[in-house]
Amino acid sequence: MNKIGIIGTGMLGNAVALHLLDEGFDVTAYNRTKGKTIQLKEKGAKIVTSPKEVAENSELVITIVKDANAVKEISFESNGIVKGVHEGLIVADMSTIDPEESKIISKKFLENNITKLDIPVMGGPNVAISGDLVMMASGNKNSFNQCKEVFEKIANRVFFLGNEGTAHSIKLAMNLQITMLALALSEGITLVEKSNVDPKKFLEILNSTYFKTGMSEKKAYKMIEGDYDATFTLANLKKDISTMTNTAKNLGIKLPMIEKAQQVYENAVKEGLGEIDYTGIIEYVKKSNESK
Ligand SMILES: NC(=O)c1ccc[n+]([C@@H]2O[C@H](COP(=O)([O-])OP(=O)(O)OC[C@H]3O[C@@H](n4cnc5c(N)ncnc54)[C@H](OP(=O)(O)O)[C@@H]3O)[C@@H](O)[C@H]2O)c1
Repeated sequence: MNKIGIIGTGMLGNAVALHLLDEGFDVTAYNRTKGKTIQLKEKGAKIVTSPKEVAENSELVITIVKDANAVKEISFESNGIVKGVHEGLIVADMSTIDPEESKIISKKFLENNITKLDIPVMGGPNVAISGDLVMMASGNKNSFNQCKEVFEKIANRVFFLGNEGTAHSIKLAMNLQITMLALALSEGITLVEKSNVDPKKFLEILNSTYFKTGMSEKKAYKMIEGDYDATFTLANLKKDISTMTNTAKNLGIKLPMIEKAQQVYENAVKEGLGEIDYTGIIEYVKKSNESK
């Protein structure tokens, strides 16, 4: 498999496509906003004007767009992927979406003689650029096996998890961790700063314990500096939190903390913090304490 299509060249999609070019793949790309394909064009990708053309030029199409509605638009609307169907075409969706929506989308692809895999990932553009994502895959095992070598170039760990939707359930549980970690660090840093203690001391001690995380070892220092250059926007995490609470509702379960976190992230977006990095949630916590 050498001809790979990428639909959605936002922060993550652009990095995945650049890495595939580095690995010698023949990459065809499309993005709704054309300006975001310039870097890829310069590096040798073929840029086309519709998802249909991406499908026509590819053996495997990887979709990396905002949400389930966007996946449906690029897949099934006029000049969508299904219009470019040909023998053996496989679609793999890397967008973070609801597991139930994912099953509906897979079914619709199958009605159009296309197999769709779920391939949500952990890690942002900074690790995608070197092929170091962690990938969770689900769907048809034979199709997965056909794409496995490509997936292993994109990610340094690839987990095949079973039927459609499975990978997305785990991805949501992963982003639940991210949500809580960013909030816990925000509140911890705010607490020590208000106590006139150097927050770097807090991180030094936290990172000497069992409770350290990649986030406390890396992004937390940027949070202290007020550096929220986005690798994953706060608005996109808020979108995922809504998917988590919606999924919980459909499962008939209560997840009390994520419901509270949803309020906090929603308020932060309302206050104009949506386009900064999700770790910028600390700004919202700080602002809530400004007059205190
Ligand atoms: N960044 C990360 O660290 C990360 C990690 C894991 C998973 N993800 C997931 O990967 C997906 C992309 O994330 P990102 O960080 O790359 O986000 P992003 O930079 O905001 O890019 C979003 C992409 O979706 C496209 N899009 C949105 N609505 C669309 C529509 N209705 N029709 C067609 N295209 C549409 C955008 O096109 P335009 O440019 O035209 O707006 C853009 O290419 C999301 O589902 C996100 O949750 C991200």
